[in-house]
Amino acid sequence: MTNIRSVVRGVGSYLPARIMKNDELASIVDTSDAWIRERSGIEQRHIAADGEFTSDLGVAAAKNALGHAGLTSHDIDLIIVATTTPDLTFPSTATIIQEKLGLRGGAAFDIQAVCSGFVYAVHVADAMIKAGPYRNVVVIGAETFSRILDWEDRTTCVLFGDGAGAMVLGREDNTEQGVINSFIRSDGQHCDLLYVDGGPSRTQTVGHVRMEGKQVFRHAVKDIALAMKTCVGQVGIDIKDVNWMVPHQANQRILDGVGRQLGLKPEQVISTVAKHANTSAASVPLAFDTAVRDGRIKRGDLALLEAFGGGFTWGASLLRY
Ligand code: ACO
Repeated sequence: MTNIRSVVRGVGSYLPARIMKNDELASIVDTSDAWIRERSGIEQRHIAADGEFTSDLGVAAAKNALGHAGLTSHDIDLIIVATTTPDLTFPSTATIIQEKLGLRGGAAFDIQAVCSGFVYAVHVADAMIKAGPYRNVVVIGAETFSRILDWEDRTTCVLFGDGAGAMVLGREDNTEQGVINSFIRSDGQHCDLLYVDGGPSRTQTVGHVRMEGKQVFRHAVKDIALAMKTCVGQVGIDIKDVNWMVPHQANQRILDGVGRQLGLKPEQVISTVAKHANTSAASVPLAFDTAVRDGRIKRGDLALLEAFGGGFTWGASLLRY
């Protein structure tokens, strides 16, 4: 029987030029560089320019990933964009990206699972590649989270940033590489612990991020660790054989806690939270791309991706790069 795999043909990312350091935030809200670093590990975040939209970030990351894969946009038959900060309520940011990439064929749609969006999107892309007829899928996580922050709320505005990451997944038969397993979960009973207080139907506004940070933290560590164990356990792989954990970059203390629970060495946990802050659905592919480009993640390495976000939603993906 043919063993179909969704292999990673290329990765890419994009960060807006403007960097906002913690000290700059301290001039906007009652906070300090020391507090932000100690509680979250964040030193800075990138902020999209006026007139720079989620689709622009996504297009730049996608082009970067296509170049890395040695493909052009015409090789792509599906675009999946994970985002919570779409350019518009509709059409999907994926179709706007499709147009900006000059793609006339194929299909494009968005996925909304907040910070877990990229892990959800990898799972969907993998299933669609296995079901056919898709051969090359661009999976993008792109966010302009700065646009939904309440810049007077110090408990949230210090934690997030803007950016995009992309992965080209392609169909290959009878290979050991590619997506091995994905595990996704959600639990809507916690939707009031992390949410945006606006939307087209309820308020006809975009709204701002609201979060019960402590409770999110507690659930995140427990649920992420279980998702990662389940994801490897379902396919009989020992966590000791995993080379890299590529986590959602919410908080360095969450990364440390999960890494410890799984018995991973700190150097196996890819962390970009200091430089990127929490870029929601963009954070996992941004971290993955960073570690590929700096030579840590190599072809043949086993990587375990994980994420947790509003809803709550969470999940993990195991892949051999
Ligand atoms: N600067 C200075 N002081 C602050 C700030 C700030 N930016 N924010 C809060 N404080 C104060 C609080 O008011 C509180 O003061 P008090 O003791 O006088 O009441 C004190 O600092 C401690 O606040 P805590 O909330 O207890 O701080 P904690 O150690 O829990 O850290 C944090 C807060 C960083 C938000 C943490 O709980 C966390 O990271 N939670 C998880 C967040 C997360 O992962 N979110 C991502 C999911 S992503 C998504 O789906 C969008």
